[in-house]
Amino acid sequence: MNELKRFTTFNIGGTPQSLAVARTVEELKQHYGAYVLGNGSNVLASERVSRDVVVNRTAEIVVDGCDIVADSGASLSAITAIAMRNNLKGLEWTAGIPATAGGAAITNAGANGSCMADVVKSLTVYDGVSERIVMRNEIEYGYRKSSIPLSFMILRVRFALTKSEQDLRAIYSQNMAFRRQHQPRGFTAGCIFKNPIGKSAGELIDCAGLKEYNIGDAVVSGKHANFIINRGFAVSTDVADLINVIKTRVYETSGIELEEEIRYLGDF
Ligand code: EPU
Repeated sequence: MNELKRFTTFNIGGTPQSLAVARTVEELKQHYGAYVLGNGSNVLASERVSRDVVVNRTAEIVVDGCDIVADSGASLSAITAIAMRNNLKGLEWTAGIPATAGGAAITNAGANGSCMADVVKSLTVYDGVSERIVMRNEIEYGYRKSSIPLSFMILRVRFALTKSEQDLRAIYSQNMAFRRQHQPRGFTAGCIFKNPIGKSAGELIDCAGLKEYNIGDAVVSGKHANFIINRGFAVSTDVADLINVIKTRVYETSGIELEEEIRYLGDF
């Protein structure tokens, strides 16, 4: 019932010390200190998690001029739909990214040449005592990383968008079509590894001959080698072991050390 597998896109993860679902920002704040799970789409959760976990299901989205202010648990797809309906440009690149605003802001999620750093205007954060606004220029963003401290619970994200007469839905649809064509569906956590500078992790794994390689029900996608698919009954160690095999084989074949993009939750 309280298993994390229900809340991760890998469909993997055991019962944590405690699990709560927060539907409002006030509820979320009450769980300060717990591990905040957004859409669970960039995480490998263990069967052993001796932590409190709160699932962020806050979802309010407000249009404020050319800005959109979203609760951190709001999905990027819902935010993007509202942006496009209001002719607000800036989020079309998010097509198909299964993330919440808060998770995407912390990890600087990106695709199609854009990333969260391009659109975040400010964050409302909570440090366990009080709320404050952190402006974009106070945050250092890099490729799939940010300087936002772990002690900050993100409550809301303000996106800076621009009015546009362009057909935003057409751009969105193109991005979605690319994703469908090149990336697998099913129980995955998106790209497992970051791209090394000037290289593609998927291509390196492919060249190491690892497409379709499996450990238990965890298998390297035949469509895109930077994705691992849970065929149904994989456990966290199947995926963790497969990740280690990939790192070893890619190092042996290319001399490059891959670094995980996904995060680990619990004991491994
Ligand atoms: N390639 C292969 N074999 C594979 C996979 C890819 O040879 O199995 C080659 C492709 O042919 C292409 C190159 O590698 O020449 C790059 O592949 P692709 O265009 O699919 O992009 P990517 O670098 O693998 C990145 C992001 C994705 C994002 C796409 C589209 C990372 C780690 N990945 O993928 O982000 O959706 O670009 O913008 O930065 C994610 O972060 O979870 C993610 C999926």
